[in-house]
Amino acid sequence: MGAFLLFVCLLAPFVLACAFRGSRRRRAAAATAACGKALPLPPGSMGWPYVGETFQLYSSKNPNVFFARKQNRYGPIFKTHILGCPCVMVSSPEAARFVLVTQAHLFKPTFPASKERMLGPQAIFFQQGDYHAHLRRLVSRAFSPESIRASVPAIEAIALRSLHSWDGQLVNTFQEMKLYALNVALLSIFGEEEMGYIEELKQCYLTLEKGYNSMPVNVPGTLFHKAMKSRKRLGEIVAHIISARRERRQQRGSDLLASFLDDREALTDAQIADNVIGVIFAARDTTASVLTWMVKFLGDHPSVLKAVIEEQEEIAKSKGSADEPLTWADTRRMRMTSRVIQETMRVASILSFTFREAVEDVEYQGYLIPKGWKVLPLFRNIHHSPDHFPCPEKFDPSRFEVAPKPNTFMPFGNGTHSCPGNELAKLEMLVLFHHLATKYRWSTSKSESGVQFGPFALPLNGLPMTFTRKD
Ligand code: HEM
Ligand SMILES: *[C@@H]1O[C@H](CO)[C@@H](O)[C@H](O)[C@H]1NC(C)=O
Repeated sequence: MGAFLLFVCLLAPFVLACAFRGSRRRRAAAATAACGKALPLPPGSMGWPYVGETFQLYSSKNPNVFFARKQNRYGPIFKTHILGCPCVMVSSPEAARFVLVTQAHLFKPTFPASKERMLGPQAIFFQQGDYHAHLRRLVSRAFSPESIRASVPAIEAIALRSLHSWDGQLVNTFQEMKLYALNVALLSIFGEEEMGYIEELKQCYLTLEKGYNSMPVNVPGTLFHKAMKSRKRLGEIVAHIISARRERRQQRGSDLLASFLDDREALTDAQIADNVIGVIFAARDTTASVLTWMVKFLGDHPSVLKAVIEEQEEIAKSKGSADEPLTWADTRRMRMTSRVIQETMRVASILSFTFREAVEDVEYQGYLIPKGWKVLPLFRNIHHSPDHFPCPEKFDPSRFEVAPKPNTFMPFGNGTHSCPGNELAKLEMLVLFHHLATKYRWSTSKSESGVQFGPFALPLNGLPMTFTRKD
């Protein structure tokens, strides 16, 4: 979800819009507080108007250092100003549950308008209420274990192709993982058909992505303009694929497009296109970042890698022959590898936080959260709290031998907008690591140990790496 984030907020038009709205909102909030409930705002400093604490946030380089420092000073709920937006940050399991689960109707998802336009305004992330619930049913059923279990061999074929193409060469791990995640996402959306269109769709998607974080200036020649043109073309390609499917009236598949088309309250082609593009966007950098961190952490922890290899070799041996495909049941036996995935998602916490906006004045534990303020549940702070995870900076998959307490571990969020792709994400990670661990070796010893933020935390330079076959 790339960029449902902080850097998102960087864009000038959004900042200005926020700053203008902000002053009106602050007055409104003060009025409510004065004549009504007289609730205090959460503690914290707002910094200079409009500039807020943006500068401190960026000058600390690692944004997580900024959040952690604030939390130590003010506790689990505090206010600040980021790029012109007054924000309340929450970093306790209880507060995250309040915002995301139990009072989710009081907090709507919020994104800059230019991002909405680019991904598609009817995509699931931006919605609330009935339309959101409708979309969610269709998306969740396409990515449920029942639907994805049959695609294990097809995902495995994609994994083997990727690994084969890296063999012995210096590759950029993150870029390669992005290609893998893109191919799996396309498989889960379109099935194994319509390959003719898929190549062009990929190219358009890559152009769209390049423009995503550029200045939203829509004049010919800019990256943003190219991205908007590709966005239009993507809509046309999806419409072609839809009409080809309707003509063929083929049997129902279990992919996302089939789920969208097999629905009594039919969605429009534009609604389907917005959601197809949205799902690719949500699926790609997220999964690729986690996979890149797994390569890094396993390389850095040989004893953990050894345990993963043993588990995966056991599964490989239990197959009749070397090229007998993996099954869903095999992936359910990958307990050690699953804990490595969990611990990787905890330590790396690639989505450090998410954004909501209060739809009305909300009271939480005696504090006022004024209508219109952004509310940011800080996943990373929760995942790195020593109260829930002793020695939180240590990479130790065995801590997941015991299930974490509710709302202390939310790599996929929680509540109405939590990740409907989480089972698919875990599955594609298990399948890739089955082959990576059993057939390849790699060494992180020489790789740098730096971290970059852009917008997800990533090993420096996307982790350049050589994977070599063991035999
Ligand atoms: C390891 C990989 C992934 C991680 C860590 C991840 C994480 C998340 C999180 C935290 C959210 C909730 C954001 C919020 O509440 O604001 C989310 C939403 C979402 N994710 Fe994922 N995700 C991953 C992979 C995927 C995949 C593979 C797909 C699709 C195949 C996907 C599709 C979605 C969609 C459609 C939403 C929006 C749901 C809604 O608004 O109702 N994600 N993801
Ligand atoms: C989500 O919230 C519910 C209700 O508090 C809780 O039971 C569940 O364990 C939470 N999920 C996660 C992943 O923490």
